[in-house]
Amino acid sequence: MKFKTVFMLFPLLILLIPAPAFSKNAPHASPKTVIGVILPFSSAFEKIAIEQRNAIDIALAEFDHVEVIYKDGRDDGAGAVAAFHELAEMENPPTAIISCASWASDALHPLAAEKGIFHIAIGSAIINRTEARHTVRFTIDAKQEERQLAEYLSRFNRIAIFNMDNSYGNNWAEILKNNFSEKIVASIAYDPTRKDFRPELAHIKGKNPDVLVLLSADNAGGIARQAREVGISAQFVGTRPIERPELLEEPEYTNGLVYTYPSHSFRHHLIVDYKTAHGITPTIFGIEGYDAMMTLAQALTEGNRSPEALFDWYAGRTYTGALGEVQFDEKGDAGYPYMYKQIVDGRFRIAEFQFALLLEKTRQQIDTVFREMAEGVEKTARALSSAGIKGEEAKKALQVLFEKNEHAFDCATVDSKGVIVSVAPEKFGYLLGMDTSREEHIRRLHATRKPVFSLAIATVEGFSGFDLQHPVFNRRGVFTGSVGMLTKPDFFDRIITPKVANFPVEIWMIQKDGRMIYDINKEEIGQNLFTDEIYAGYPSLLKLGRKMATAPQGNGQYQFLDKKFDKTVTKNVIWSTVALHGTEFRLALAWIEND
Ligand code: COI
Repeated sequence: MKFKTVFMLFPLLILLIPAPAFSKNAPHASPKTVIGVILPFSSAFEKIAIEQRNAIDIALAEFDHVEVIYKDGRDDGAGAVAAFHELAEMENPPTAIISCASWASDALHPLAAEKGIFHIAIGSAIINRTEARHTVRFTIDAKQEERQLAEYLSRFNRIAIFNMDNSYGNNWAEILKNNFSEKIVASIAYDPTRKDFRPELAHIKGKNPDVLVLLSADNAGGIARQAREVGISAQFVGTRPIERPELLEEPEYTNGLVYTYPSHSFRHHLIVDYKTAHGITPTIFGIEGYDAMMTLAQALTEGNRSPEALFDWYAGRTYTGALGEVQFDEKGDAGYPYMYKQIVDGRFRIAEFQFALLLEKTRQQIDTVFREMAEGVEKTARALSSAGIKGEEAKKALQVLFEKNEHAFDCATVDSKGVIVSVAPEKFGYLLGMDTSREEHIRRLHATRKPVFSLAIATVEGFSGFDLQHPVFNRRGVFTGSVGMLTKPDFFDRIITPKVANFPVEIWMIQKDGRMIYDINKEEIGQNLFTDEIYAGYPSLLKLGRKMATAPQGNGQYQFLDKKFDKTVTKNVIWSTVALHGTEFRLALAWIEND
């Protein structure tokens, strides 16, 4: 009876349903832009696909003009192609597609171009680009990641590779074999749908490797356990896809694993939102998916529709998202730094060994800049030995010195009494005749007749700079004065900023007298650690500063404000020294414990 009632009511209901929003008199609702997202749902990478869908859905919640149709790309290129055809043949085909996995993106790249559909690749480290200006990729290429991994791998002598048998794993294995040919003792591909890897691992054990590179994703935890069970004691090393939650289920087997991973933004709200919604922290797969959707929706909001316009929107663009600061090159590939991570006490942690490497690399780069400046000034001093320190020839030599050194602010000669007698470029002519004899470094030079590098000085030019001076002797060996280069210390910023971009570390630099030479917070530059008010309430920092003043290298801990000056935090620090002509600067790298 009930059925009958419903059926009888049905015609009435139809009459009562309001007219659709697109009827002539109703306000016009603009149709949504359709985006096809092809993810490997039915595959060994199902959990990755689900994570990407969840993250994309979080991004979608911020836009109401975009509609996403998810398709199953299965576990190979053919699966992705079939999913693509289903999308392309729809009455209203997608304006853009997003695809995950190298094999899928590689297969879809020419196809999407042929059909005039814009293409974004996520989770795709290997792509053979054949169509210019069509596909944008959020994943760093394997060749680039390998450069970083190689730095760590080069300390081992017997390298074994165990890689998933797909275009990701096989291409990565090839890259490693090309780079480390003589050190590879075993290289085996495995089927990622399998669970028992013991026969292959037993073979690897027989080769006695000191490192086992796992080009793996979700099954890395099981592989690690079985590898230890068959007696492999080698260091485990991995790459970006290895950071999966399952790795932490049996940490006794995975603790110590070192892997390369994007240095993304650790504080983006996506991380919190995802964890709140799904109970786990997203990995780089979700993070790429979120940024891909956020940027694409933004590009569409700005009216871009054609593949050309969408590609142009990305190429050359820099944006800040969940991946941190990302820079797209003209080919459409994203760029952002990678770092080393490590499983420590059952947690994914930033590998602390890399901090010393980072500090040393930064120190070397500053040192190289110092040496190049010193060589240039010394060469000019030799030329002025016969040309003299004033007159046309001297001016020309100073101009050459200035032009050859990108860090020079101006170049000048000073006579034996400390008076400036020649200067380049021309516009600094007002410095001629100025007496510099009271400057500490000029006195030092006059006393020792040796090259000097000043501490930070308040310059007549109006900034706090550094002066490098080299003595000039005429052909008879008589001291005639010196030639120098004044430099603005912005090269510290140019060297340090890209080194720490996206890294949860800070680099700062002080003179031994406590003066701050470089800090991420520009207002700190020029302050004195020992005397300025902002440091006064932090005794552990003052104590550390005193230790740094006397010791050329070391490590410690101190309390001070975080990078944003929001709250007091405890920081670990390591420091080293960069020196020129006896003037020493302490270079410190600090990070917040458990950040
Ligand atoms: C890649 O192809 O770069 C990936 O990360 C795919 C992943 C499903 C293992």
